Amino acid sequence: MKTILVTGGAGYIGSHAVKELINQNYNVVVLDNLENGHREAISKQASLEIVDLKDKEKIAEVFAKHSIDAVIDFAAYLAVGESMDKPEKYLRNNVLNFINLLDVMAETGCGFIIKSSTAATYGNPTKENDIPWKEDFTDRYQPQRSALLEGKWQSKTTFAEDFFQLFINEYYNNIAGRPELRLNDNEITKLRIPMSIYGLSKLLDEIILNKYDKLHSIKSVSLRYFNVCGAHPDGDLGDDKPAPTNLMTVAMLQALGKIPEIKIFGQDYNTPDGTGVRDYIHPSDLATGHIKALEYLFRGGQSEVINLGTGRGASVLEVIGAAEKASSRKINAVKAPRRSGDPDISIADPSKAKQLLDWQTEFDLEQMARTAWNWHSNHPDGFKS
Ligand code: UD1
Repeated sequence: MKTILVTGGAGYIGSHAVKELINQNYNVVVLDNLENGHREAISKQASLEIVDLKDKEKIAEVFAKHSIDAVIDFAAYLAVGESMDKPEKYLRNNVLNFINLLDVMAETGCGFIIKSSTAATYGNPTKENDIPWKEDFTDRYQPQRSALLEGKWQSKTTFAEDFFQLFINEYYNNIAGRPELRLNDNEITKLRIPMSIYGLSKLLDEIILNKYDKLHSIKSVSLRYFNVCGAHPDGDLGDDKPAPTNLMTVAMLQALGKIPEIKIFGQDYNTPDGTGVRDYIHPSDLATGHIKALEYLFRGGQSEVINLGTGRGASVLEVIGAAEKASSRKINAVKAPRRSGDPDISIADPSKAKQLLDWQTEFDLEQMARTAWNWHSNHPDGFKS
């Protein structure tokens, strides 16, 4: 029986993966600092190690205690907006703490990792046929200047190339003395694609993984997820965050009357009904995608970056419609201006996942809304309910 270390296994997506790993007879060790995760979300059969990835010694102790065959790394901050106000927080947690994990893997000879990445690595489409997003867009597109939007660096407002250079300089300050982790010109160019520090931090992780493959033969699959929503069909796992911002979750909270209204951000996007279009994917589909990626590495697969999406888009109005149908309630949605940083449209080309992993999605938007409603209506206060 193989043992998988799941970092962030107490979180929304991580807990779905842990449950599925156990169903498929893996031994699971969850590593989580419980900052955003919930102890109640972790399957009873998994062991829990309460550790923060900033603590390299503690990570090493976990690897010494359990014989880890592979890692699935979910532990990261994920909010696009917050990353623009607190870029150093995202550099520290999403990049430097991730390097701690990889260093321990290299030191202990653990050679496989599945990494949470994101569609936010793609930025905004530059021409009509960029959508659906293909993985090699980030290798092909060569912007001269960073697409980073306005954000804060040490309380000063900055954006684009200046913001980008500050971030890269801070990265270099932190890896001083480690020339193997410096970036070449191609890598720097690629990092100019994302519009947010969050997307940039994940693209930098993909680049770092490439370096650890060359340096230490650590094989990885970075999975670029699209918009995750829905809850476990068993009704025991779902999205429980202190201040949720994602569309399906806020729609459910409005249907329950926990918030007075939801805002439809922008009605003039270049989409059929004028509202933003995204590729929504269920966490159980993501969970099976992670396990298939793990099996791909165990059978000798090379390191890869792979999209996990359905290949179908839904507009904000369609998601609200699905939430109304699932809850049988009218949702109070009001028109509001565009939200900064939102692209018009983001849809995955999932053909690489089908071809390399033999993976495809099973849940459609209606099932995502139905499982989300089941979770939120039975757990109005999340896991504490
Ligand atoms: C989400 C994830 C991000 C991931 C990305 C991948 C979170 C917090 N964000 O971002 O980590 O990289 O998917 O594609 O999990 N909308 C409204 N009203 C609302 C909320 C949203 O109109 O109250 C609209 C947005 O403008 C957008 C769509 O709904 O068009 C989806 O937004 P959201 O659910 O916030 O997800 P993303 O920003 O796409």
